[in-house]
Amino acid sequence: MEKLVDFSTKVSAPDKAKAGAIAVGVFEGRRLSHAAESVDRASRGALRALLKRGDFEGKAGTVRVLFGVRGVASERVVLVGLGKESELGAKTYREAARAATLAIADTGAADALLYLPELQVQGREIAWKARQAVTAAADALYRFDEMKSKKPEARTLKRIALGLTAAGHAADAGRGVTEGRAITSGTALARDLGNLPGNICTPAYLADRARALAKEWKLGIEVLEQKDMEKLGMGSLLSVAKGSRQPPKLVVLRYEGGAKREQPIVLVGKGITFDTGGISLKPAPEMDEMKFDMSGAGSVLGTLRAVAEMKLAANVIGLVPAAENMPGGAASKPGDIVTSMSGQTIEILNTDAEGRLILCDALTYAERFRPQAVVDIATLTGACVIALGHVATGLFTNKDELAQELLDAGEEAWDRAWRMPLWDDYQEQLKSPFADMANIGGRPAGSVTAASFLARFTKAYDWAHLDIAGTAWRSGKDKGSTGRPVPMLTQFLMNRAGKE
Ligand code: BES
Ligand code: MN
Ligand code: ZN
Repeated sequence: MEKLVDFSTKVSAPDKAKAGAIAVGVFEGRRLSHAAESVDRASRGALRALLKRGDFEGKAGTVRVLFGVRGVASERVVLVGLGKESELGAKTYREAARAATLAIADTGAADALLYLPELQVQGREIAWKARQAVTAAADALYRFDEMKSKKPEARTLKRIALGLTAAGHAADAGRGVTEGRAITSGTALARDLGNLPGNICTPAYLADRARALAKEWKLGIEVLEQKDMEKLGMGSLLSVAKGSRQPPKLVVLRYEGGAKREQPIVLVGKGITFDTGGISLKPAPEMDEMKFDMSGAGSVLGTLRAVAEMKLAANVIGLVPAAENMPGGAASKPGDIVTSMSGQTIEILNTDAEGRLILCDALTYAERFRPQAVVDIATLTGACVIALGHVATGLFTNKDELAQELLDAGEEAWDRAWRMPLWDDYQEQLKSPFADMANIGGRPAGSVTAASFLARFTKAYDWAHLDIAGTAWRSGKDKGSTGRPVPMLTQFLMNRAGKE
């Protein structure tokens, strides 16, 4: 991972601040933000003149870089479009931070001041605006070049400060920056792990990265090996790994920031390091994207890193069942019946529905921690992508209060989820004439039947399932891991910790 730029806050008048670049907002209809207004005044009307000439419209997400503006101490002034003033919301705010950062990174500026946190954003406070500016900027600057033999040149942009004009905002903005840094570093870890190819990011590699994380942040760690899983009776998890030369791992990470007697929250992340589909082989097009099938696992490691960096007062356990789903002489076959750790038997009708098979045993294992709640995160179904696209994570839960908490956390972190049903009616589709259940439920409501399968293993505690198949990575020319839902999970844990 590339070293992230350094983030801070700075109280200074926009025209007086000395930096490689300052970014100030402009609304549609040639309306200047307060920061732009003071640049305009210092430059004796240079901005207004430019707007009048029609050189910038203030459309959301657009930018203009100006050099050598008179009366301004900084070398460059970046105008950032904010759209209609009355409509400025989270989405446009983040886009503005992103566009300004990329425009500045494209110049020779070594440091920049973004005058964004004092803008009025519907229903959002200074700390939120500072945090979002940091995460949006860092997300924009993220690059994955670990696997390139020639590394791209290091960026000149080294420092980004959030510009404030009122000293009274500094403490709140500072808190937002600290949170933003932690979330950014967790998200970047999740993105790196997701972007690594399947020949490097194997179950053993994930376990090694978890060990390194534990060492760095003083987390407890234990890695269960195949023989340990055999002893525990994890026949379902083990059946997925059978076709692969890569042995499965079950990583247990503990972050103990809360009171001793406080029950933990358990996060369980699907860690299929490559999903060929197994004997129910996937078609060739886009199969490479199945290297991202460990994104749930990546988000668990990333979230633990974020909460550890924040020193959050909470107890969190991360469980990562990891395996590679391959065809082969020893692989599971359609019709095979396996016995899960819970004792329930499963008829494997499709070896490509493997995520639920590794998760169910990890979810049974989670019972031993007497959790407050368990949240599993998985790139579980293509059907979830059809239902919600790449915008919302699918949320399924057996507890209404937990649904609300996760929806709120997603809204606050701007990493949103949408609730889907888990009614008993769907259980019909999982019936098998030969075993306690089948591992697939047919085409209708594929993401719901997958969640319904997991629900049979999570009756002992409050549980939520996040299907991130549509949100964990982007396809196409900007292909790559997004690090979602690290921001949502971190916010959820922050909110729970705050309640104590
Ligand atoms: N990892 C996939 C889900 C997936 C597919 C995520 C496409 C993102 C994009 C999962 O293991 C899988 O293969 N699910 C099957 C389930 C089916 C066999 C019931 C699917 O969604 O097709
Ligand atoms: Mn699969
Ligand atoms: Zn999968």
